[in-house]
Amino acid sequence: MTPANPTTAATVEVDRRHVWHPFSQMREYASLPPVVIASGRGGWLTDTEGRTYLDGNASIWTNVHGHNDPDLNAALSDQLGRVAHATLLGLAHAPGADLAAELVSLAPCGLDHVFYTDNGSGAVEVALKQSFQFWQLAGRPEKRGVIGMAGGYHGDTFGTMAVGDSGFFHDRFRPWCFAADHFPAPAAGDASASLTALDALLAAKAATTACLILEPSVQGAAGMRLQPPGFVRAVAELCRAHGVHLIMDEVFVGFGRLGPMLVCADEGVTPDFLCLAKGLTGGYLPLAATLVRGEIYDAFLGTYESRRAFFHGHTFTGNPLAAAVALANIRKLRPLIDTGVIAERAAIFGRLLAEAFAGHPHVAGLRQRGLTAALDLAPAGGGEYPVALRAGLQVCLRARAHGLLLRPLGDSLLLVPPLCLDQAELGELVNRTRRAIDDTLPFLV
Ligand SMILES: Cc1ncc(COP(=O)(O)O)c(C=O)c1O
Repeated sequence: MTPANPTTAATVEVDRRHVWHPFSQMREYASLPPVVIASGRGGWLTDTEGRTYLDGNASIWTNVHGHNDPDLNAALSDQLGRVAHATLLGLAHAPGADLAAELVSLAPCGLDHVFYTDNGSGAVEVALKQSFQFWQLAGRPEKRGVIGMAGGYHGDTFGTMAVGDSGFFHDRFRPWCFAADHFPAPAAGDASASLTALDALLAAKAATTACLILEPSVQGAAGMRLQPPGFVRAVAELCRAHGVHLIMDEVFVGFGRLGPMLVCADEGVTPDFLCLAKGLTGGYLPLAATLVRGEIYDAFLGTYESRRAFFHGHTFTGNPLAAAVALANIRKLRPLIDTGVIAERAAIFGRLLAEAFAGHPHVAGLRQRGLTAALDLAPAGGGEYPVALRAGLQVCLRARAHGLLLRPLGDSLLLVPPLCLDQAELGELVNRTRRAIDDTLPFLV
């Protein structure tokens, strides 16, 4: 399909010739009507054809205050006028230092050191490597195993694929991944079977296990699987009791996505490692952080020749532009959380979703927590759509016609709006989603 606008056509032509898009069957991608994003403001994106869309997945779960936010823009251009990049290898800079202090102030007491990377996978890799090295330095090299939870997603690098459980996303790479143990995720309202299985696994394997990794409260990429109240704390207590590090992967749930700034602080749980990314920069720039407990940091101290140092780093580790915009993002978000603005938006979102989709003939499941939700699409008579029908994708394509950008996960729709949407915009998100479903699914055969 050739677009009428020459700017669009030129970009589409080059894009199709040279760009390999993530998570995409490129033959399918090339067959779909193109959308070329030109600009954004608030919760909205505009394409090169002048069409405007509500950003219903917050640009892959990152956006907080909206696109083109004046405060974040100002922080970025102020830093740009000073220096765009300087390495943290042997040097320091104010944005990197100030952001670390800010993150430590948000986190539960004891998480007092910050290691920067560029994305969520990197933050998790660092936590895993630091846990492995800690146990070596502590004279317990046999503690090298990892426990993850069924359905967990922690990224697409080899370490994160190894500890995750994302089915066909990663299955073909299993031969190159190290082995990890997994315990069952909790049932919707009852965590007892999951916790009993975890306790048994830890009793059998804690002596050879370095760490457990958990996406607390909501497993995003598993389709917004919700954990019942008290589950996160119970997992933390089991880890502590069995002497296994707890890595909290708040890459998705942190920075107000579920209401509080950080889930672990809200739950009163202090993990050994805390991984942050996505909302950290308000959706502006790639930056991630791994927060570490002081005792773990201290174990790495020694002389140079003791080889206790953590040999890991990336070219853009702690990039000053990203750190400056992250600081501005957090300082703007804090009062919105403290005064209940984000919690109120989440409550409105939940109410609107329930009104629109409870009992809907094509919505077999609805899960919502904070400003995130999943709708499981299904045929009216029950059962599932054949995979080749691409029901979820069809609904998302139709949503574009209603001025809404959404991403499917199989036949589930994931709704993850920027946190800045007001009541009217949240209403638009829900109504446009409903119209896209009603336009599509009754006619899908
Ligand atoms: C919980 C969680 N951890 C880690 C990641 C990986 O982050 P990134 O895509 O920035 O590498 C994601 C990405 O969706 C995630 O949801």
